[in-house]
Amino acid sequence: MLSRVVALTAIYIGGALSTTLTGEAKAMMEDSMAWMDNFFDPKENLIFEVQSDAAMNHETLESVWYAVGLLARNGNQGQDVSHAEGIITRVIDDQYKDPADIWFGVYTKEPEEPYVGTAPYPATRYGSWDPNWYDFVGTAFVTIYEEFGPILSASTKEYMLESMVNSSIGNSRRGGDVDGDNLWPAYSNPAIMRAATTTWTGVKTGNKTMQAEGEGYAQQIIDLWDLHKTLSEFNSPTYTGISLFGLTLWGKYMPKSSILAQRGPDIFRGTFSTVAQLWHAGMRNLAGPWDRSYSFNMQTSLGHLSLLLAPIIGREESGLRQNPWIMSHARDWCWASLIAVHAEYFTSLVPQNVKKMLKEFSPHTWRGQVYYPPFDLETRNITTWLGEKLMIGAQSYHTTSSNGPDDNNEQFHPAVAQWTYNNGDIGWLDLRASVPHLLVDVSPNRLNLTYPDGDASSVFTFYASPSLLQRNVQGWSDIQGVNISISGNVDPNATVKFAGRFGGSYGPYYDYNYWYLQHTMPAGFEGTPELVIDFTY
Ligand SMILES: *[C@@H]1O[C@H](CO)[C@@H](O)[C@H](O)[C@H]1NC(C)=O
Ligand SMILES: *[C@@H]1O[C@H](CO)[C@@H](O)[C@H](O)[C@H]1NC(C)=O
Ligand SMILES: *[C@@H]1O[C@H](CO)[C@@H](O)[C@H](O)[C@H]1NC(C)=O
Ligand SMILES: *[C@@H]1O[C@H](CO)[C@@H](O)[C@H](O)[C@H]1NC(C)=O
Ligand SMILES: *[C@@H]1O[C@H](CO)[C@@H](O)[C@H](O)[C@H]1NC(C)=O
Ligand SMILES: *[C@@H]1O[C@H](CO)[C@@H](O)[C@H](O)[C@H]1NC(C)=O
Repeated sequence: MLSRVVALTAIYIGGALSTTLTGEAKAMMEDSMAWMDNFFDPKENLIFEVQSDAAMNHETLESVWYAVGLLARNGNQGQDVSHAEGIITRVIDDQYKDPADIWFGVYTKEPEEPYVGTAPYPATRYGSWDPNWYDFVGTAFVTIYEEFGPILSASTKEYMLESMVNSSIGNSRRGGDVDGDNLWPAYSNPAIMRAATTTWTGVKTGNKTMQAEGEGYAQQIIDLWDLHKTLSEFNSPTYTGISLFGLTLWGKYMPKSSILAQRGPDIFRGTFSTVAQLWHAGMRNLAGPWDRSYSFNMQTSLGHLSLLLAPIIGREESGLRQNPWIMSHARDWCWASLIAVHAEYFTSLVPQNVKKMLKEFSPHTWRGQVYYPPFDLETRNITTWLGEKLMIGAQSYHTTSSNGPDDNNEQFHPAVAQWTYNNGDIGWLDLRASVPHLLVDVSPNRLNLTYPDGDASSVFTFYASPSLLQRNVQGWSDIQGVNISISGNVDPNATVKFAGRFGGSYGPYYDYNYWYLQHTMPAGFEGTPELVIDFTY
């Protein structure tokens, strides 16, 4: 089989693939591959864990993304293609095969794992198995099949379809209220990908039931979008990028008659226009509020969204380092080829005025609304003000718990300010959600936060940026880059703690050390807790 593959690829080297990368898309593929090549293990046909924190165990998902890059590069005398086929086969061999398991059709997280759901290795959703792997692997397989079909052997393609059928069946058992799952149609990124992979698999295998299922999920996502022209999982340096990627597949690969093909491009354009409104070209960061983020600064932590921006505005302009593997969350650089092969298509969807806005900053305010059932009890109202050196974004929300709209307290950032100082540093402060009901008022240089259902026990807890300019912080006046003044009816003195990699009261927020500043209410307080931050610079 191997020799047949090599022979086939020889024919196609430099040949007529639909994907010919140019510009930054080509550079993203080449640079990410040059980096990932270091991790390839030809013995197992998989790549080693790229963040070097796993004693050289292998990683399924990153291996599949690497396979996309191998096929896009299609070099080394046919070896790239045979390695890609080896990875694809290896990953499908390990795919879970017992339809009785709730994780049927999902892919391993690492090949070293015991069988999920055994006594030594209990089935833990998002732990020992990850239901989103259906989509992360699936969208890569769809791309591989569509873009590189001509250089793949017939047997590999068949095996991929068989794999996608099982994956789609397993995926179809997901639902927001099923068995502790959370795949509501509002959980935009996997919902969008699931609609794409299921519809595509139904179409390719002639399974009308499966196709209809995919279109049904899509319709639910579209209905939510049509409410406010925003994704329910709103504004994330990581997940907005993944949603946009999923929408790319809707527009590019579904039959014209499909609701996905009909609506994918306009939802993509609408989402991208909002990104352009919230993107600060000078600060190279996405303004808040973020429904989900792992970081406070896209110049130090790789946000997947940057991968879509880079082909349009340039790598460093998108927040990425020229060598992104030194950044936090660098694992997402493994996506680079998978995004790069779609760059020509999705760039064509972005209107000129949106591209211009991404490149040239001018101060403005953006307002919008978002709804994430079943966790949002009311429509959320977002206001983001972007000034030259400071931007403030916040949302009024009323949710079933203080975990916020996505039921994910840790990644939820309802009120954020970021500023630039000291010739390029990014400072930030971030309200941590402690209540299910917050009202905000954002205006130039001012953030006003109130807890309508709060009381004397309410707290306003912030994380704020450390700085080399002042390593010892005793209060807001030591936070560098802007002057912050606190008013309202809170106790104006904050409790200050440090969270650090090597000590302090807490560990880092993901990879970020931070100053913890908490305001409580004065003794005997009655009324509505309110905290106002005024910024001067
Ligand atoms: C798909 O699932 C069936 C059981 O329904 C199993 O026999 C088959 O091996 C699976 N195929 C793959 C590619 O995992
Ligand atoms: C067709 O799709 C349905 C719905 O996902 C699934 O239950 C069924 O097993 C599929 N049929 C085949 C032959 O794959
Ligand atoms: C957002 O604004 C709408 C009015 O447009 C209002 O009905 C809703 O209650 C507001 N949401 C919150 C959480 O305050
Ligand atoms: C902050 O917002 C609350 C509630 O909307 C309002 O009552 C208060 O006047 C505002 N404070 C400032 C300083 O704008
Ligand atoms: C805040 O702290 C300062 C200095 O420690 C102190 O003088 C002041 O009384 C405190 N204010 C309140 C409201 O506790
Ligand atoms: C903060 O205020 C102080 C004194 O009021 C001023 O000297 C300093 O320049 C201000 N810092 C910034 C960053 O605006």
